[in-house]
Amino acid sequence: MKRLLYFFLAALLFALPMTAAAQPSVHVVSGPYLQAVGEREFTVVWTTNIDAVSWVEIAPDDGTHFYNTERPKYYQVLNGRRPIGKLHVVTVSGLEPATTYRYRVMQNGVLVNEGRKRVIFGEGFGSDILRHKPFEVTTLDRSKSEVAFSVVNDMHEHDSILRVLYKDVKPGKYDFVCFNGDMTTSIDAESELMDHYLTSSSELFASDTPLYVARGNHENRGTFAMEWMNYFPSSTGRPYFSFRQGPVYFIVLDSGEDKPDSDIRNMDLMRSDDFRAEEAEWLARVVEEPDFKSAPVRIVFCHMPPAPGGWHGGSEVARLFVPILNRAGIDLMLSAHIHRYKFWDKGENGCDFPVLCNPNLTRMDVKADARNIDVKIYDASGALKHQNKFTK
Ligand SMILES: [Fe+2]
Repeated sequence: MKRLLYFFLAALLFALPMTAAAQPSVHVVSGPYLQAVGEREFTVVWTTNIDAVSWVEIAPDDGTHFYNTERPKYYQVLNGRRPIGKLHVVTVSGLEPATTYRYRVMQNGVLVNEGRKRVIFGEGFGSDILRHKPFEVTTLDRSKSEVAFSVVNDMHEHDSILRVLYKDVKPGKYDFVCFNGDMTTSIDAESELMDHYLTSSSELFASDTPLYVARGNHENRGTFAMEWMNYFPSSTGRPYFSFRQGPVYFIVLDSGEDKPDSDIRNMDLMRSDDFRAEEAEWLARVVEEPDFKSAPVRIVFCHMPPAPGGWHGGSEVARLFVPILNRAGIDLMLSAHIHRYKFWDKGENGCDFPVLCNPNLTRMDVKADARNIDVKIYDASGALKHQNKFTK
């Protein structure tokens, strides 16, 4: 009898943690952060600790409680099916321009997935809107007279400095933030994207402030680099895109790798030349669009600055992109890559527009209206390091 009791207790002790471990609660690990915010849509990205299905609920910014009524749900759907996974990408569309919406991210943990036999869901969880205000996003507004935005680049895993640079961001301070490439040296796992900048970005601003990301040469590198578009969805489905905010039409370019494709360091895996040629065709179409032509100001983000006679990547930027941009009429190109401040005035470097390189580990704050572009570059101590003004 005693032996039977010991056996029962041992079985119970063994089974309890197994039971607990088999039924974890779903929760957010990283995010949410905003992507591809447009005039009528936005996308939210976040990750969860266990597999889940997900959706986003939105509410107008009208002072009612989020639980006041049933809120519309926008599901993560891929080709007609709700994906089960830990990465959640939900697009909310059909919105009004220049309008603030509240939103919360929701997920239902999947405890058992046996296909057609059974799918067992755990508890559903979402953003805690009882202890924290719902997240907010404002769709793009071309009627604004001024746009304020901020840029960092070449952070190369310096998450702690990123946190200092953006420690004082309140919703509304910037219309958007742009990461202009090389936020990491290579990408070998999702955790590198999250741990090196996305988790901090979400906590500091990117859940409420639109984030646009330009790919740098280093983001072509690593075993996880091919997953890029899953984390940075864009309006074009490509890592180059454009958008209009206030008086400015923004073009975000992808300048590809820096060395020739055939270089041994590219492991025979790069085809940047073909990629940039295809991108140049897209760029030529964009600058013919009425939205581009009618914008009072045009600003281009391009990680590698044009470098005729320089490294292959910058040389190809000069050969492929610059002639199109020269014809189109560009007011300013914001670049990165060289890890130091550099300014080429209009007419220098083969460009009929000024090119400004933000150093690494500094924050560039820009304000632009229809006549003026005001650039200020700060280091992590808050000291103003460089200032440029451009008048049309
Ligand atoms: Fe770079």
